[in-house]
Amino acid sequence: MQHERVLVLDFGGQYNQLIARRVRDLKVYCDLKSCDMTAEQIRAYDPIGIIFTGGPNSVYDAASPHIDPAVLGLGIPVLGICYGSQLIAYTLGGRVEHAASSEYGKREFTFVKDSPLSQDIPARSVCWMSHTDHVTAVPEGYEVLASTPTCPVTVYGNREKKIYGVQFHPEVVHSEYGNKLLENFLYKVCGAKGDWTMGGFVAEQVAQLKEKIGDKKVLCAMSGGVDSAVAATLVHRAVGDKLVCVFVDHGLLRKGEAEEVMEVFKGKLGMNLIRADAGERFLAKLAGVSDPEQKRKIIGAEFIKVFEIEAKKIGAVDFLVQGTIYPDVIESGKDKSAVIKSHHNVGGLPSVVDFKEIVEPLRDLFKDEVRRVGTELGLPESVVQRQPFPGPGLAIRIMGEVTREKLETLRDADYIFREEVAKAGLAGKIWQYFAVITNSRTVGVQGDFRTYENVIALRAVTSVDAMTADWARIPFDVLEKVSNRITNEVPHANRIVYDITSKPPATIEWE
Ligand code: XMP
Repeated sequence: MQHERVLVLDFGGQYNQLIARRVRDLKVYCDLKSCDMTAEQIRAYDPIGIIFTGGPNSVYDAASPHIDPAVLGLGIPVLGICYGSQLIAYTLGGRVEHAASSEYGKREFTFVKDSPLSQDIPARSVCWMSHTDHVTAVPEGYEVLASTPTCPVTVYGNREKKIYGVQFHPEVVHSEYGNKLLENFLYKVCGAKGDWTMGGFVAEQVAQLKEKIGDKKVLCAMSGGVDSAVAATLVHRAVGDKLVCVFVDHGLLRKGEAEEVMEVFKGKLGMNLIRADAGERFLAKLAGVSDPEQKRKIIGAEFIKVFEIEAKKIGAVDFLVQGTIYPDVIESGKDKSAVIKSHHNVGGLPSVVDFKEIVEPLRDLFKDEVRRVGTELGLPESVVQRQPFPGPGLAIRIMGEVTREKLETLRDADYIFREEVAKAGLAGKIWQYFAVITNSRTVGVQGDFRTYENVIALRAVTSVDAMTADWARIPFDVLEKVSNRITNEVPHANRIVYDITSKPPATIEWE
């Protein structure tokens, strides 16, 4: 089924994926594509509307991305955001100027004229600005629809042509009615019906996978992560026993995780799931190794070897499932031919499996959509809301050599931290939170005895994409409880420290 779709043309702004996610949340499918698409290509794509994103440039720079003016003559509704708005004005003969001073942050703006864009939005509300240039005169035939004291043309448009520009960022949460404005553009201007829902997606994918796979054989590597779990469950829903899953347990997962994978996917869902219990093998390979990059290389290579052994037992298959998701496919709006995730855990798999074709049922979805599909498929919260976890697992949270004893200490400490964060209702507000076992020991006193034991560090960060991160302001009483519990309940830990470094200069993981 061909969904109605919106085209989000990427001019390089930092919120571009966010715009696309908002549109999808409003039940309209959209793709993020490079801004150099021609009018002809756009016509062929056949969108119900086009959104020009923001971007870091000024329309007057020769090197800035511009558009084929014919795009604005296609009769397709257009919404320009920030740079996109300036570009429309510039292209159609309006005026764009450097503002006296850059405007960042919250501003109150006032609608001066009604339009389909302003329906159900109060006359005055708060928006989020981030710009230096702005439109000072609208093109002929266009009207000023909203302004602020310093930004005379905050919103403008032409009702007949269905072309609008907004200087602020409706996609960010600080814009009070930003989502409503996007909804108005989609439903009141573009006439969207809203046919993009996760329930619908599941039904369509299951039908397509059934048709494609039929009674042929499919193989999937499961890591315990959200993407491979949801991809496998979707394929399982479609073809049941034709799917064989291999779960390489490298023994470096958190407490209870490997058991949960087996319980949920084999026990509850009845998947044909093989667990390759390779913990001993990985520990042996890691003995004496303390360099982080070397640990990563060893784990990556070993993972593929173990998977290969299992794949050989299974023999030739027709399809190999990969949990590729939309952000893996797009890179600043340019399609890259990423067929395989760069994630080292699965990156090398195709070379050791005898298969004909790769199946990527999640390739069109953002991460939050993948989670919703997981929920739709009945996966438990613990799987669907799982925080990002590195492929090399706890090996890069154990500074220095990985040993069985350190693994045990770390697992128990980490479990307590996770439990208390969840109890405090903070789990959904923190991007990643985990314990690290530092490679140092300190003197302590426990009971009447002097101890000389491990220092455990707690790491918790807020982030939107892991590219930058800030340390999470976990309340002291929660940290106190975690510290008390770890030192009381976990052997070989006598000191707890909290990491208060942002990224940059640090990274999220310690190694
Ligand atoms: P850093 O530590 O670089 O981490 O700030 C950014 C994000 O990437 C994850 N990470 C990894 N994921 N293999 C992975 O699959 C790795 O080797 C790896 N190293 C870091 C990290 O957990 C965070 O989400």
